[in-house]
Amino acid sequence: MKKRKFTRHVTSKWAKTRVLLKCGTLRSYIPETRKMSRQTLQEMLQHYGMVYVKPNSGTYGNGVIKVEQGASGYGFHAGTKVRSFDGYDELYEALGRRIKSRFYLVQKGIHLLKYKERKFDLRVMVQKNLSGRWECTGMIGRVAAPGKAVTNVHNGGKLVSVEQLLSGHASSARVKSLQRRLRGIGLTAAKKLHAKYPGIKEVGLDVALDSGLHPWILEANTRPDPFIFRKLKDRRIFSRIYRYAKAYGRV
Ligand SMILES: Nc1ncnc2c1ncn2[C@@H]1O[C@H](COP(=O)(O)OP(=O)(O)O)[C@@H](O)[C@H]1O
Ligand SMILES: [Mg+2]
Repeated sequence: MKKRKFTRHVTSKWAKTRVLLKCGTLRSYIPETRKMSRQTLQEMLQHYGMVYVKPNSGTYGNGVIKVEQGASGYGFHAGTKVRSFDGYDELYEALGRRIKSRFYLVQKGIHLLKYKERKFDLRVMVQKNLSGRWECTGMIGRVAAPGKAVTNVHNGGKLVSVEQLLSGHASSARVKSLQRRLRGIGLTAAKKLHAKYPGIKEVGLDVALDSGLHPWILEANTRPDPFIFRKLKDRRIFSRIYRYAKAYGRV
């Protein structure tokens, strides 16, 4: 029988965010994130106008809710459901029915760039290579399904190459330099997380881009799906990702 090597998985978004915030070079890429409460949500809404609330240990975009404060009241978008409220108390009660007693976070909302009217964000894959060093092995974009506030593939998100998604937003030279920067961010994040959690072998960052192309780390996955990279035309990318994942016993 094949013996599986030990690969550490860390679920708590709060714990991982705190590790990344300790790093001076990453701090400017991390949207303000707080533990969800009646008070923190209200303060964050007043400050940012739009926030995301999400389960501390969620996956696949499940339970992730976009919340907004506008001139005429409040609103939220969960799954394909959109609701509005006149007052904060009504909003908070309705959210409470979904959240129940689970540990939730509230995070500054990033206005994601769009591709053909649909929001997208990026997944940056970083892995331990065959020499045991961290390597950024791939990047791919995820376009939200119509009517969804999340881009996850398990929520109908569509995989599209970064070059294609950004071609309408920046020159190819700018796209190349952004990709270089994202690789740097990915490597730094992986090393910081690994210093705290030495068993991890791979990190998949979910990165949002705002209208100024500033990258924002929405979350760091310690068990990212390697198979999404099968969608890229360049087959060598998935083949390398798979080879590394196999070497550390992930697939
Ligand atoms: N702060 C945010 N601003 C904008 N979009 C967000 C934010 N947080 C999450 N999202 C959207 O929701 C998706 C899922 O959130 P994420 O934090 O990655 O949780 P999960 O573990 O469920 O994937 C993201 O890929 C992104 O599309
Ligand atoms: Mg995610």
